[in-house]
Amino acid sequence: MKQEQIQDPFVGDPMNRVDGRLKVTGGARYSAEFNLPNMVHAVLVTSTIAKGRIKSLETKAAERASGVLAVISHLNSPKVPGFAQNDHPSEPSTGGQPLRVFYDDKVYSNGQPIAVVVANTFERALYAASLVKAQYEQEKHETDFEANVENAFLPSQAKNNKNSNLADYVRGKENAYKTGAVKIEAEYVQPTEVHNPMEMQSIVAHWEAEDKLTVYDKTQAVKGTQSAFAKDWNIPKENVKVIATFVGGAFGNGLHTWPHETAAIISAKKVNRPVKLMLTREQMFFMVGYRPHTWQKIGMSATPDGKITGISHEAIGQTSSYEEFTESTLQQTKMMYESPNVDTRYRILALDVSTPIWMRGPGEATGAFALESAVDEMAFALNMDPIVFRMINHTDRDPEKNLPWSTKYLRECIEEGAKRIGWEKRQLKPGSVKVGEWLVGYGMGVGTFGANFRMAQATARLQQDGKVVIQSATTDIGPGTGTAMVQIAADELGVVPAQVIFQLGDSAFPHSPSQGGSSTVSSVGSAVQAACTALKQKLQELAVAQGHTGFQAAKPESLSLSEGRLALSGNASATIELADLMKGQQEVVVTAEAKPGEERKKYSMYSFSVHFVEVHVHPVTGVVRVNKIVSCADAGTIVNEKTAGNQLIGGAVGGIGMALMEHAVLDHRFGRYVTKDLAEYHVPVHADIPQVDIFFVNKPDPYTNPLGTKGIGEIALIGMAPAVANAVFNATGKRIRELPITPDKLL
Ligand code: MOS
Repeated sequence: MKQEQIQDPFVGDPMNRVDGRLKVTGGARYSAEFNLPNMVHAVLVTSTIAKGRIKSLETKAAERASGVLAVISHLNSPKVPGFAQNDHPSEPSTGGQPLRVFYDDKVYSNGQPIAVVVANTFERALYAASLVKAQYEQEKHETDFEANVENAFLPSQAKNNKNSNLADYVRGKENAYKTGAVKIEAEYVQPTEVHNPMEMQSIVAHWEAEDKLTVYDKTQAVKGTQSAFAKDWNIPKENVKVIATFVGGAFGNGLHTWPHETAAIISAKKVNRPVKLMLTREQMFFMVGYRPHTWQKIGMSATPDGKITGISHEAIGQTSSYEEFTESTLQQTKMMYESPNVDTRYRILALDVSTPIWMRGPGEATGAFALESAVDEMAFALNMDPIVFRMINHTDRDPEKNLPWSTKYLRECIEEGAKRIGWEKRQLKPGSVKVGEWLVGYGMGVGTFGANFRMAQATARLQQDGKVVIQSATTDIGPGTGTAMVQIAADELGVVPAQVIFQLGDSAFPHSPSQGGSSTVSSVGSAVQAACTALKQKLQELAVAQGHTGFQAAKPESLSLSEGRLALSGNASATIELADLMKGQQEVVVTAEAKPGEERKKYSMYSFSVHFVEVHVHPVTGVVRVNKIVSCADAGTIVNEKTAGNQLIGGAVGGIGMALMEHAVLDHRFGRYVTKDLAEYHVPVHADIPQVDIFFVNKPDPYTNPLGTKGIGEIALIGMAPAVANAVFNATGKRIRELPITPDKLL
């Protein structure tokens, strides 16, 4: 029985999450749940103006309040050495300098931390923070995107490097669509959206010594956070320890370091005690990034029989005045459809707001809303079924890089999705299908995202008890990373999953890239597999050294660690008790690395998805109900059917939110968000979401990485919002080009 299980690979199984029990029983500890001896609490005081200077800060009352240890601001903050250098390094794609907390009297956005109060209880810190009063020298702020759009500029990254993927792109002729036989031209608006994961951002900062910092921090990048803080404080990386064992969702807002983290570290320095700081839900709206407000324009032309002849696509995304946040909004347009002429222009617009950050699907999701809406508009102009139109313009090669795809099963996804949604019921003429009073519409949207693979390392240690502990400094923000890693390791080692323990979320572990861009299973999974192979080879060496015959020429794939023995397939006599092999050793430890190879130059690697929806729109109230969702993905090997399926469902929910509800509203008089809780900022609830029917092609990609995976997290959302917008058009004849599609826009 056991033997059978082992021979049947665990990769692919819908295995339950290895940390599921801990999560549902409260055993999982999130960063705000760490309590250190002598720990105190910090609460931020935030600016109430969007731009200007702090003229004076009244802190006396707060300082006198009971339990208060310190009120820290630019007036008395310990100096952060990295701030002075003015070349503060930041993550790729965010040029500029992250906000220098308590550095000077300048205010760059409404809600910027201007002081922090540290007290011996949270309640005392909260109360004292309310006693801090600021006087400002206010300057005129600009937070209105439309009013400032002429100030948009080419990001420095593109200015400095013509080959940057943010640079202006021209294939064939620029603006060719203008002379096309059939053409459309339209503008699209993506409003600001906020990640709002369930768990709010929090940190416990502890200076263990003058130059030794430990943080329990909500992040998607323990190594990136470690580097950022080491540079801030000008201390060796090894002196910074970042722990993020559990992360309660993030959607991208843990891919950058934020002011509250620095504020807590400064506080801990000042009071020389561990300090806990957790953001309020309100602060989550303006301090930890957001999907930036983005304006887009698309022009497209086609021949009367449906061949696209030109696409021009421009985008302008919002950023802050101190960082150049950029994203790949126009990528899909460059490579998705066969068109001899494509040109794209990407610009950013700096406003007096905090810095945005990638939010699930990031720029590609914003870009796909415009592109996939435009494709639907074009199909309609041609009086053609949008599936037929997409198939006519399907590409079997990447037209941007002029390379073959590593794999592309988008046709299969579209065919399967069309069948499942009941596409044959769709009529070309909007408003043709009704159920009772409700108008019924069908829509689709295609998504794609680079099948990323970044260098990662893992350590595998075989313990005396026969268990294998594997470590890598990734996080698990919810996709089930730990579970997938256990499955990968179990297969490689030839053991049952219960024999494998995967540890993550600690900067002391071997290198892992940040958990973003749908790259974790590909990158860390490949490293885990490599570490398991290396472990078997090490055991083989031990066996040979101990004089066991039969192992000399054994290949790693024929070795396994089943049932406490090193075994060789096809040679029943070649088995050794692991205990014997390990005699005199506490454990056998190996570390291995996986990184992308030459294949990346020969093939273009993307995941693909298509989302189909059926919507019902009420003609009197404008209410949109999503009645049916089918999400199909070509994401290479599916390591875990259940957790991967959860990704598609989560992405669909996020996409419905993007399409119908999510909108962070700024009051430009103050440059401040008026949506600041989950009552006013709407996200889908269970009643808004029907069953999500999911389909994976589940064919390994032979070139992306040893596992054949391509990534799921982003494509789960990319293309969902236009699917809904297109379905709403099919139901009503109303083309909504500014998200979200709220009832007022349909009346
Ligand atoms: Mo994702 S936006 O790469 O967390």
